[in-house]
Amino acid sequence: MATVTALTGKTPIEGFDPDPQKSYTLPARYYFEPSVYAWEQEAIFGHSWCYVGHVGSLKEPGCYITAKVADQNILVIRGKDDNLRAFYNVCQHRAHELVKGSGQAKVLTCPYHAWTYHADGRLRTARGSENLPNFNKDEFCLKPVRVETMANFVFVNLDPDAPSLKTQSGALESEIRGYCPEIDHLVLARVMTYDIEGNWKNSVDNFLECYHCHVAHSDFCDLVDMDSYRSICHDIYSSHCGRSSHRASKAYQYSGDARAQKFGSWLLWPNLSIEVFPGAPNVNIFHHVPIGPEKTRHVFEFYMESDMPTPEQEDAIRYIDEVLQAEDIALVESVQRGLHSKGYNQGRFIVDEGRTDKSEHAVHHFHGLVVDALNRYGGA
Ligand code: FES
Ligand SMILES: [Fe+2]
Repeated sequence: MATVTALTGKTPIEGFDPDPQKSYTLPARYYFEPSVYAWEQEAIFGHSWCYVGHVGSLKEPGCYITAKVADQNILVIRGKDDNLRAFYNVCQHRAHELVKGSGQAKVLTCPYHAWTYHADGRLRTARGSENLPNFNKDEFCLKPVRVETMANFVFVNLDPDAPSLKTQSGALESEIRGYCPEIDHLVLARVMTYDIEGNWKNSVDNFLECYHCHVAHSDFCDLVDMDSYRSICHDIYSSHCGRSSHRASKAYQYSGDARAQKFGSWLLWPNLSIEVFPGAPNVNIFHHVPIGPEKTRHVFEFYMESDMPTPEQEDAIRYIDEVLQAEDIALVESVQRGLHSKGYNQGRFIVDEGRTDKSEHAVHHFHGLVVDALNRYGGA
């Protein structure tokens, strides 16, 4: 097997080739070695647009959410001027975490010694600082992080020099809006989380191909017409879309117009899946959150027209929870065990020119982004 110096050329990733037809998959150790995991946290999550929440949690001035991005605690807050801002979630006095969870506050008050901050990050009060010579409040503003929204979803990027999400994500927002024109009216209706025994890339790999669908997801093949399913790769995202099968579905029954017959799903680099299922207007977030080298948390957020799902929508949620997720988690966890086998290191991608449901070119595209980021930002 040839060792290919991939893309930016610094670190050879053995067997990886920019041509999906020639390339091997990522070596097994990339899916479990702690040093690779630590490298990824910096090289991938430290430089990418990472999902942190929905604008529905940030409707009014003072509303805030918190999130962990790479190893950093981040705070996103809406200011009095209606702008969203993000900051490192750390008090500038002696580094106590400033806020926890989510909420709404006129000023942010540190729970340790009660320094307070405005929602725009300026230090407001520091008890006793009037006794100090040359204490300059401007020196102790919260440290900003970049924030952007896309289709009402909120993203932050720890890299001050990264190209904007709008630039990088191209037509993704308009694609999603095409599948769900009602997206601006949707609210959070349900959250489901699953902790799985698998590396986050293993989980994303599984999302990115439907080569396994005929084998492992008979109800999904019955819901979505596999002959219409196509995966198309773009700069930092891939689209995986098709139409419903027009047959009675074992997955769940749904009614509605032509829009309701479509299935759309996307993977936005590095770890956010977005899905629109057939039926009443909906958008699902499926976030593959790395918890450790071999642990991933799946966070599903179901956005619907009401926070009370209809019986039909409850059936759809139940199908995703009890059937689709159960099937996929078993696959990913089995692969994770297999990656440790002394009888395995790398496989090949099955790809076809038609970019059909049986092609794994989007997995290769994702591996290319992993290789590129690891090369760009140092070595393990
Ligand atoms: S650490 Fe926040 S006020 Fe002291
Ligand atoms: Fe699957």
